[in-house]
Amino acid sequence: MIQFSHVTVNYGYVPGALKDINLQLRDGDFTLILGPTGSGKSTLLRLIYMDILPSGGVVKVGKWSSYRITPRQINLLRRNIGVVFQDFKLIENMSVFDNVSLPLVIEGYRRKYVKRVVNTLLDEVGLLHCGDQRASTLSLGEKQRVAIARAMTRNPFIVIADEPTGNLDREASENVLSLLQRIHGNGTSVLMATHDYELIKDTPYKRIYMENGQVLPPDRTMNIGKQRIRLLTKQE
Ligand SMILES: Nc1ncnc2c1ncn2[C@@H]1O[C@H](COP(=O)(O)OP(=O)(O)OP(=O)(O)O)[C@@H](O)[C@H]1O
Ligand SMILES: [Mg+2]
Repeated sequence: MIQFSHVTVNYGYVPGALKDINLQLRDGDFTLILGPTGSGKSTLLRLIYMDILPSGGVVKVGKWSSYRITPRQINLLRRNIGVVFQDFKLIENMSVFDNVSLPLVIEGYRRKYVKRVVNTLLDEVGLLHCGDQRASTLSLGEKQRVAIARAMTRNPFIVIADEPTGNLDREASENVLSLLQRIHGNGTSVLMATHDYELIKDTPYKRIYMENGQVLPPDRTMNIGKQRIRLLTKQE
């Protein structure tokens, strides 16, 4: 379970990136975070993998609490979270296989085990045949699928995806969404921030709407992209 209690975030002297956020995310849920640019979506996600710590309030992620966490414990926490970004963050001149294997190699896993895990994941994202290719030779949609495979190497309990389809065309975006849906179907929680309302509008997942550093109550309207939409009732 992930819990935010009275969480505020100030960046430097600029107050109010997040203002008094109270939230609970249940294990196994697929949750969408929607909201205009600058509303605090990425900040909220960064708090969960403790890339930043709150300026006020407490974030609890499983057995870890932002209130008392050491750098070593933050590393442990991050091993249990898969993170996917809009810009993939692959090492472009390395092979697809090496990109996906990196988290396991760094931790000293045996080669045979690494090979088995990486090939299984590449197969799952439909890119087993690309293992020897440099990452730079892939399409953007393929790169994101490699990044998702890499996020899954340590069998995380949650995948956090920050605008994972932001650089992708419609078809590649749909592929990424269905991959995340499959990951969710296997029991992993998924938390995805997105601007792409069209992509997710027919999905049944719980939605968190953010505006101006706050989570909105669900009975309002807001701007997403060029559309003014009526917020749907929160799906539990
Ligand atoms: N490193 C930083 N230093 C200073 N201010 C920041 C920093 N990161 C974010 N902010 C500010 O905090 C607020 C929330 O930013 P955040 O990146 O969380 O929004 P977002 O909803 O993810 O936006 P986008 O949709 O553009 O990704 C914004 O006002 C932003 O300018
Ligand atoms: Mg963002």
